[in-house]
Amino acid sequence: MRRAEVRRHRHRFYEAAVQNVEVDIDFVERVYRRLNGRLPGSLREDFCGTASLASAFAARRPGNLAWGVDLHRPTLDWGWRNRVEARCVEDSVELECRDVRRAAGPAVDVQVAFNFSFFLFPGRGEMLDYFRAAKRSLEPGGLFVLDAFGGTDSFQATTEHTEIEASVGVDGVALPAFTYSWDQLAFNAVDHWMRCAMHFTPEGGEKVSNVFRYAWRMWTLPEIRELLAEAGFDDVEVYGEGWDGDTGEGDGIFRRRTRMANEGSWVVYLVARY
Ligand SMILES: C[S@@+](CC[C@H](N)C(=O)[O-])C[C@H]1O[C@@H](n2cnc3c(N)ncnc32)[C@H](O)[C@@H]1O
Repeated sequence: MRRAEVRRHRHRFYEAAVQNVEVDIDFVERVYRRLNGRLPGSLREDFCGTASLASAFAARRPGNLAWGVDLHRPTLDWGWRNRVEARCVEDSVELECRDVRRAAGPAVDVQVAFNFSFFLFPGRGEMLDYFRAAKRSLEPGGLFVLDAFGGTDSFQATTEHTEIEASVGVDGVALPAFTYSWDQLAFNAVDHWMRCAMHFTPEGGEKVSNVFRYAWRMWTLPEIRELLAEAGFDDVEVYGEGWDGDTGEGDGIFRRRTRMANEGSWVVYLVARY
């Protein structure tokens, strides 16, 4: 695959590298059902990009409704054509081109913000604005579910390579196997500002650098939990992945934690209740 092709298919490479929306939805449904005794029927995906998760939620059960909110119109348009239409859920998904702090849709059972997108907010003021808006747009009993990452490797410049298998998207478009490189280019210990980039190297092809670039603040769990509490979420749970001693990797099962060792790198879900 040529470089221009990789850039043209960048959203597909991104999704294959870092998203597993069915696993995220399984988690959200499991926790929501435990707390509310039923499955959620409505969901808003903030920072939705291609709306992959929103469209998968709508497709999961008849009657499910989903909203997606993102600032970037071209990505929303791509997601509508290649994810919402491909899953045949045009009647149960709405995409809104807007700042997540100004989203206007109806109150929902679950609001999610995944792949650490809320780290883009640089300070307490912006974050508090966002968390307060999230609380306003939840039904009573509703959940605000976020993810966060950290660990000793996270607060420094480093590069991590992951082999991704060939796959076929929901729209039937095939993607070759590729190497995904997550590059933490620079980390400033004074303000925790991090510059990062994603590079993709298709099997048998050349590396395509900086397909996506981000600058964000490395927020810590205590900071996030305190801001959620300040925004009015008085019950915030942290779920960490279990460890499989045989494979030396995470076991894919997220359990509630009040204590957690600070490994090299970790990812958690945060669940805030209305
Ligand atoms: C890393 S992508 C997340 C894609 C996908 N939802 C995921 O979980 O991987 C971040 C997205 O956030 C959007 N974004 C950044 N700031 C935003 C804001 N204040 N309001 C709405 N969307 C925003 C960008 O346009 C981009 O599509």
